[in-house]
Amino acid sequence: MDWDALQQAVAGCTACGLCQSRKNTVFGVGDTQARWLVVGEAPGENEDLQGEPFVGQAGQLLDNMLKAVGLNRGATGAQGVFIANVLKCRPPANRNPQPEEVLRCEPYLRRQVELLQPQIILALGRFAAQSLLQATVPDIASIPLGKLRGQVHQYNGVPVIVSYHPAYLLRTPQDKARAWADLCLALDVVKRVPSR
Ligand code: URA
Repeated sequence: MDWDALQQAVAGCTACGLCQSRKNTVFGVGDTQARWLVVGEAPGENEDLQGEPFVGQAGQLLDNMLKAVGLNRGATGAQGVFIANVLKCRPPANRNPQPEEVLRCEPYLRRQVELLQPQIILALGRFAAQSLLQATVPDIASIPLGKLRGQVHQYNGVPVIVSYHPAYLLRTPQDKARAWADLCLALDVVKRVPSR
């Protein structure tokens, strides 16, 4: 599937029950040539209404964090970033994604990564980390998110940095310094790759 076909497949997806309650699918937003891919968990209410990831309060924090490392969801070139989620549809009442839903949606994110060929993936929160790293980190579900930070993981040949979800950081601002360290590590990894 090319990018357009993938977008259409997501827009019409009925692979799990979330298709019955969604208002919009949320494919992702940003520069398809970007070096950075940010992966969150799932759309919330605002994202479901607007069809765009991270447009609520957590999204504002994410935008500010990205700005701090020179990235902007509306930009192309060196400032470009693509933002997507593990799930493309909103779980009702913002409940956690269920394993079956993650399994059904996983091929879409995998294909997005293949087509985008990012130089770094920033995995935000435990669902993004688990979905991307389950094949390479044994027993990942039992590892606290904090223990997955500070290392360069791999997802199908792309370096992955794990960090806190911005919604968690809104509740736990004392961990913002750690999230900043994660962004700096990701920046370091990108800087080591020759620009294309
Ligand atoms: N939280 C996420 O993980 N993704 C969004 O798009 C919005 C909130």
